[in-house]
Amino acid sequence: MQQAEMVQRENWRSRLGFIMAAAGSAIGLGNIWRFPYLTGMNGGGAFIVIYLMCVIFVGLSIMIAEFAVGRKTGLAAVGAYKAHNRSWSFAGALGVLSGFFIMGFYPVVGGWSLAYMIKSVTGLLSVPEAIPDYFGAFITAPTEPLIWMLLYLAINVLIVARGVAEGIETAGKILMPTLFALLIFIIFRSVSLPGAGAGLRYLFVPDWSQVTGQTVLAALGQAFFSLSLGMGCMITYGSYLSKKENIPSNALTVVTMDTTAAIMAGLAMFPALFSFGMEPAQGPGLVFVVIPSLFAQMGSMGVLLSVIFFGALTIAALTSSISLLEVVVAYLMDEHKVERRKATFAASTVMAIMCILSSLSMGVLSGVQIFGVGFFDFFDILTDKIFLAIGGMLLAIFVGWFMDKEELRTELTNDGTVTFSFFELWYNLIKYVIPVAIAVVAAMGIAAIEQTSLMIFGLLVIVVLAIFSKKL
Ligand code: TRP
Repeated sequence: MQQAEMVQRENWRSRLGFIMAAAGSAIGLGNIWRFPYLTGMNGGGAFIVIYLMCVIFVGLSIMIAEFAVGRKTGLAAVGAYKAHNRSWSFAGALGVLSGFFIMGFYPVVGGWSLAYMIKSVTGLLSVPEAIPDYFGAFITAPTEPLIWMLLYLAINVLIVARGVAEGIETAGKILMPTLFALLIFIIFRSVSLPGAGAGLRYLFVPDWSQVTGQTVLAALGQAFFSLSLGMGCMITYGSYLSKKENIPSNALTVVTMDTTAAIMAGLAMFPALFSFGMEPAQGPGLVFVVIPSLFAQMGSMGVLLSVIFFGALTIAALTSSISLLEVVVAYLMDEHKVERRKATFAASTVMAIMCILSSLSMGVLSGVQIFGVGFFDFFDILTDKIFLAIGGMLLAIFVGWFMDKEELRTELTNDGTVTFSFFELWYNLIKYVIPVAIAVVAAMGIAAIEQTSLMIFGLLVIVVLAIFSKKL
């Protein structure tokens, strides 16, 4: 018994600790900022139905698989693949690269959220009619958003360089429930506005006429992004999970929390949006326009709630982005023996440069395009429409075809002590259905996409990584 505990990795102090950390990584800008605006750009209800199918049939299975690989090997992403076979290390390296590129735009939006927390007090809400135009003016300005982004990134660096994530996790434990409570409050407000019914119909009555291959790829990519899957983040978390914990039920809890947060964000925003007569397909500005407009109607109470909302959103974003930075830092430390502080500063310096380009691509650099898109979209599309989905596909192939089925059964049932009735279903999904489904969706997306050259570039990067796999 003692022996077993000694060889085991340092564990999460409690089940709640693990759930909160994994949910903290999952719940972030993906749920509150990205999910509602993608829903608006992809026609509403039909997108939500496809998204939920991706979460249930792909996301949940992949999360179970990532936890299982992590706990079985006790290693983070690259190490876990490598432990099995060196030529698989490219799959782990692809994950590290994904984390790196997501950090090429995520802090830009984190900076917007931080800015809106402060701006809520300094007069943002005082002229409600000006709120929509204000957002456009703010993000396209040449310097101000850069300052907020750098501030946001600096907070990440401080936390990760010192290796002290507890502080932020404690803040998350308080602010995550606050965010949920606020969303419930906003939902009640939002649905009681005149004309809110149109928003509810938009969310829950699917209009299939707008669905294309692009819609499906967007939904799949969003499922991976929102659940923090496809780059080994959850493999790393699983490596700290106690052998006593029930993996499938933990995965189900995290997936349910994340999906609930996303749906709640949609419910909070669309009824109000329709009531205000705003455009659902307005894109990345959605949360920054609808929520302040809603709070602007509530006087000084609205100001207070707006500060709390964007404060909580910033913390939710931080608990996600430190997990991304940590994946890159852990890789440099473990595989290249770089010291923690150096790894953090080196990684974040490059991230800062990518973020500067992303932020400026909203304004002064909007004319500069690589593979047909601006810098922000380049990092965004490359990661969530290509790298994460392919990363998930590689993981499914790895688990389904290169790991032993009975060992997986043992891992997922804790040596037969807990039941996992859906084991056969899960195994077949992972082995056959998910790899094929992702390949089909990726092909459909590529066929329907405007950014074909970007897609080809992304696939080339993966091929190059695979060729140099042994060096990674
Ligand atoms: N899931 C987070 C969000 O929704 C973002 C994120 C954190 C992420 N870690 C990740 C995305 C790993 C993909 C992979 O905001």
